[in-house]
Amino acid sequence: MSTADLALPVSDEALAGRLRARLALVEKELAGHVRSRSPFITEAATHLLAAGGKRFRPLLVLLAAECGDRAESDDVISAACVVELTHLASLYHDDVMDEALVRRAADSANARFDNNIAILTGDLLFARSSELTAELGADAVGIQARAFARLVEGQILEGVAPSAGDDPVAHHLDVIAGKTGALIALSAQYGARFGGASPEIEAALTEYGEIVGVAFQISDDILDIASESDESGKTPGTDLREGIPTLPVLFARRSADPADARLLELLDSDLSDDAALAECLDLIRRHPAMDEARAYVVAESEKAKALLAALPQGPVREALERFADVVAVRST
Ligand code: IPE
Ligand code: IPE
Ligand code: MG
Ligand code: MG
Repeated sequence: MSTADLALPVSDEALAGRLRARLALVEKELAGHVRSRSPFITEAATHLLAAGGKRFRPLLVLLAAECGDRAESDDVISAACVVELTHLASLYHDDVMDEALVRRAADSANARFDNNIAILTGDLLFARSSELTAELGADAVGIQARAFARLVEGQILEGVAPSAGDDPVAHHLDVIAGKTGALIALSAQYGARFGGASPEIEAALTEYGEIVGVAFQISDDILDIASESDESGKTPGTDLREGIPTLPVLFARRSADPADARLLELLDSDLSDDAALAECLDLIRRHPAMDEARAYVVAESEKAKALLAALPQGPVREALERFADVVAVRST
């Protein structure tokens, strides 16, 4: 049985088959949740879903659900849809914030339509996600609302400088724990909870998801610098151009080496010019800060894997370990 359509290699054939079958159900349900009475709104809301995406978060829901005795329940499928709809909505908003023109190898919604339509379509998708969460019960609504609030706070604080005396790296790690860690933690927690896992396993997987989420974001930020192609379906260099702080850049900024003077000057300059951006990318790609950031991600991924000691040995734990590995060395 092929696992080519799963975002991570799952060596156990039976587990891979179950995940693929349930992801297909998630996909079918998602297509229904993005429909509207207006064909135009359906087109706007379907745009990014149809463009692709790795479905990393719903996959994590399905995998975490395998730690309980109700992995095949309808609630698990709904929980997987909730996290992907929340993610999808955040991408509509994120591309407006970041002035990104390409997403999932397609035009971003702001480029294809305009900023207003992208923002309001994102709102519609958040509403759809809330409607579905209500079917999962009051506790699920509270947990999702807290994760969503952390995501939004992270997105806002990304553009706010740390207070005087605060460590910029610590501030940054806090921002990405909110904007990305919270939803990946929710994915693991929802899977464990609706799959019927014990409260101890739910707690361990929530913590695992949070750490994996932060590692996932740092890997994404490393790729934004290191990638020389549009293989990620996005435009590399976007973070630098928009002046969005990322871990490699913050590590490079700590440097007192006079050889880094040009890089630091470029980082503080207007990078809307293609030649300036290319020079900045070239310098940062060769800077030791890149390997420092990579080492940080690998260490975080090991920390996440250690939390899986709460799970019995077997194919599910092994797949969750692979999940943390894939995040640390991702190429897309
Ligand atoms: C992109 O997430 C946003 C980040 C948190 C870095 P993904 O890399 O999961 O995006 P898709 O869903 O595969 O497009
Ligand atoms: C990811 O934003 C976080 C959310 C969408 C909430 P980024 O701006 O870091 O991610 P990409 O690189 O555009 O996917
Ligand atoms: Mg972005
Ligand atoms: Mg962003």
